[in-house]
Amino acid sequence: MHFFEYKGKELYAEDVPVRVLTAKYGTPLYIYSCRTIERHFRAYDEAYKAFPHIICYALKANTNGAILRVLAKNGGGADIVSGGELYRALQAGIPSDKIVYAGVGKTEEEIRFALTTGILMFNVESEDELREIDRVAGTMKKKAPIALRINPDIDPQTHPYISTGLKENKFGIAIGHALEDYRLASGLKHIKVVGVHKHIGSQITKLSPFVDAMKRILDLVDELKRRKFDIRYLDIGGGLGIPYLDEAPPEPGDLAKGLLPLVDGRKITLVMEPGRSIVGNAGILVTKTLYLKRGGGKDYVIVDAGMNDLMRPSLYGAYHHIIPVVKNRRGKITADVVGPICESGDFLAKRRHIEKVNRGEYLAVMSAGAYGMSMSSNYNSRPAAAEVMVKGRTHSLIRKRGTYEDLVKDEQVPGYLR
Ligand code: LLP
Repeated sequence: MHFFEYKGKELYAEDVPVRVLTAKYGTPLYIYSCRTIERHFRAYDEAYKAFPHIICYALKANTNGAILRVLAKNGGGADIVSGGELYRALQAGIPSDKIVYAGVGKTEEEIRFALTTGILMFNVESEDELREIDRVAGTMKKKAPIALRINPDIDPQTHPYISTGLKENKFGIAIGHALEDYRLASGLKHIKVVGVHKHIGSQITKLSPFVDAMKRILDLVDELKRRKFDIRYLDIGGGLGIPYLDEAPPEPGDLAKGLLPLVDGRKITLVMEPGRSIVGNAGILVTKTLYLKRGGGKDYVIVDAGMNDLMRPSLYGAYHHIIPVVKNRRGKITADVVGPICESGDFLAKRRHIEKVNRGEYLAVMSAGAYGMSMSSNYNSRPAAAEVMVKGRTHSLIRKRGTYEDLVKDEQVPGYLR
């Protein structure tokens, strides 16, 4: 569910015609709907209201400070994977005691930063990391709160690049080793065991992998509690999918209905880490048609957004709807929608049946709010796209378009070249 809809021939972002936004801010342009973000966050909050819970938005999906502030205002926490994300979360006013920190390669500097700010817990991914956190906490005379990220060996039935809960993935600690590693953790002087964490993958469109993983992880939680480990938090990760094409993933409410009966009766706080399902459908990428071209028996629509702006089609073969900003009823063509980057892999869609467009007309790439801007780059020396947030009739620039100066501002010229 989102607030990008046609009114007559025109695509609107909430109550603002997208045409108005492209005229004011240019393209490529990311547009986010504030009400959609709020709605998705509240859907989670409502669904779990009968049980103690913290919704830790996964920053990696989209780190824009305006989005983080919307979530912070609604009581959200953060799931982070780097010092940079911790910095952004704190800047946006997310309280440190609602921040959980995952990732297989935390550096000493990042661990120190997290300990200084007093996060809720580290989601630890290996024995080595556990020992390192213990050591760093020791030098700071602190005790680090931790959960172990347990890999439950469940197939999330999603794209292999975004599957994380199988035993062959690099993430977490094998469930068979869990007890041993919890014992190790409890013996470390500067570690305080407070939770269990799992996250099995992303863009999961079925309920069953969540339910199966939950059952496995609850067996472990119960076993740990029997052994007197003080497990207060069960972090069930993120991963709920969104409709890109014709998927019909469960909604947060369906997920809660599947999971809450399983945890019922336990004295525990549920932590969850949704990313895509909060912001995915709350954002679109608007791009201008630069040229039309025919070659090799194919039609190409060449647009001003490339794989550097939205990498998902190139990297995962991901599907995003592409629709006209103003409907023209000129009939349809089948075309590759491609960007200006010098790579054959630079496409937004292949062999796509879309409405005919003319040069200078605008297209909206839908469901681009998650892993769009956050995975973008300056490849081919393309300045970063601008980002706008719409709420009702108001629209605000939340990140100004990058400039040529930005591209070179951090570079330095060695003395022998001056
Ligand atoms: N928690 C952890 C530990 C994660 O690794 C992730 C995502 C999340 C939560 C949030 O998952 P979500 O609710 O967004 O599914 N770039 C890929 C997605 C990579 C996901 C990485 N981890 C894409 O564009 O599809």
